[in-house]
Amino acid sequence: MIHIRTHEEIELIRKSALMVTATLTEVAKFLKPGIATISVDAMAEQFIRDNGGKPSFKGYNGYPYTLCISVNEQIVHGFPGSYILKDGDIVSVDCGVYMNGFHGDHAYTFAIGDVKVEVLQLLNVTKQSLLLGIEQAKANNRVGDISFAIEQYTAKQHGYGIVRELVGHGVGMELHEDPQVPNYGRRGDGKRLKENMVIAIEPMINLGTRDVKTLEDGWTVVTADGKPSAHFEHTVVVRKDKGEALSTFVPIEAAERANKELNSSHYAIETQMM
Ligand code: MF3
Ligand code: CO
Repeated sequence: MIHIRTHEEIELIRKSALMVTATLTEVAKFLKPGIATISVDAMAEQFIRDNGGKPSFKGYNGYPYTLCISVNEQIVHGFPGSYILKDGDIVSVDCGVYMNGFHGDHAYTFAIGDVKVEVLQLLNVTKQSLLLGIEQAKANNRVGDISFAIEQYTAKQHGYGIVRELVGHGVGMELHEDPQVPNYGRRGDGKRLKENMVIAIEPMINLGTRDVKTLEDGWTVVTADGKPSAHFEHTVVVRKDKGEALSTFVPIEAAERANKELNSSHYAIETQMM
């Protein structure tokens, strides 16, 4: 069953989604070469609890952490751990927050230092494909209209591999609700969208092949060819003319830019002193 949410429920989902945005903004400030991904997870969990939320993922089907942190060829569900971030990495950070009876679900892929142009392009195209998908999240469209828009832009136009094993989903009182929202498909296929349904749209796009493998930890999904993968996600409410994202990239992007300038000016000063 696909829920239609009341105005009050949507505003509560917005609060949870914006708490995820705030968490990812803290993550954006925190990320730099030399830090271990487990310390990002610890910081995020503390931030969420200090603000009266609960991490949605921790304990979900036995998932052990607050964040999914997936580096380079890792697509999603990567475990935070002892891995030390280095210049040139890309890092997908996925986070859910539960507050006031509702979940928000939201993800962003960060570039650490100098990342290859072809990989930066993958990030930009994946992020843009999410925005194109959101435009299709309007009343009387079907789920396939979202899927088609994402597939068209990423695979057809840019030749990237679209992950098929994992999909977007309804989100609300449960982290995963109906309907499933694939990132590939045909216009006019699938369930009909109605005003005030709330869904998570989350393209997972690979630079190379679409094929994936799961690591021995039972969670971490990686690209079969070892090439990098990007993941961006918003919690979205279906509206009359286009979807409305309840989460936002604006403060995350601002923090990412400020952090980049800070780290590169440190670098410039260190270089000057040499
Ligand atoms: N954010 C993921 C999703 O979008 C869920 C993470 S799985 C979990 O569906 F087990 F870690 F929660
Ligand atoms: Co999700």
